[in-house]
Amino acid sequence: MNPSIAQLLENNRNWASKRETHEPGIFEKQAKGQSPEFLWIGCADSRIPPNTITGLEPGELFVHRNVANLVVSDDPNLLSVLHYSVLALKVKHVILCGHYGCGGIQHAINGQPFGVVDEWVQPVRELINDNSETLTPLPSEAQFERLCALNVLRQVENLRQTASIQQAWGAGQSLEIHAWIYQLESGQIKVLQDPIAGP
Ligand code: CO
Repeated sequence: MNPSIAQLLENNRNWASKRETHEPGIFEKQAKGQSPEFLWIGCADSRIPPNTITGLEPGELFVHRNVANLVVSDDPNLLSVLHYSVLALKVKHVILCGHYGCGGIQHAINGQPFGVVDEWVQPVRELINDNSETLTPLPSEAQFERLCALNVLRQVENLRQTASIQQAWGAGQSLEIHAWIYQLESGQIKVLQDPIAGP
């Protein structure tokens, strides 16, 4: 059964009190600042809570999520998160994590018109066109899987080209981009390619 909204607030009070008991002064310390080493860019999907699946505590992971984990070159939301985390917080790793069974990818393949989402997933349709030769011969389920993975690789490529990341590498900053994909069926993350550590 789904929890009530009041339950969420009660959960929060319990969580805060347990955490303070377990590690006295933790909130006072966290209020002073953050220095995460990782930026997570993932899908908004409720089944993939980044801190939970990577075992990271509050303060350890800077996060940006959107439908289908896209890196769009004129998205000021993503670009601000990236710029701040890479150049001010100086995270050491940018993790682009997609997932199999992504509803955003599915929508780009064969979705019924659905307002603003149609426009948002347009880059995925372009990806389908660019890879039609490899995708077309595959059965539809394999096409879907392949596209979820190709989408991660394309977004990593987009990330690599951003001004913020180029600037960090240009200044000799240590920064790796990781291409990961999460499997809903197993709860496990698969690494799609070696990290990219420079231009
Ligand atoms: Co998704």
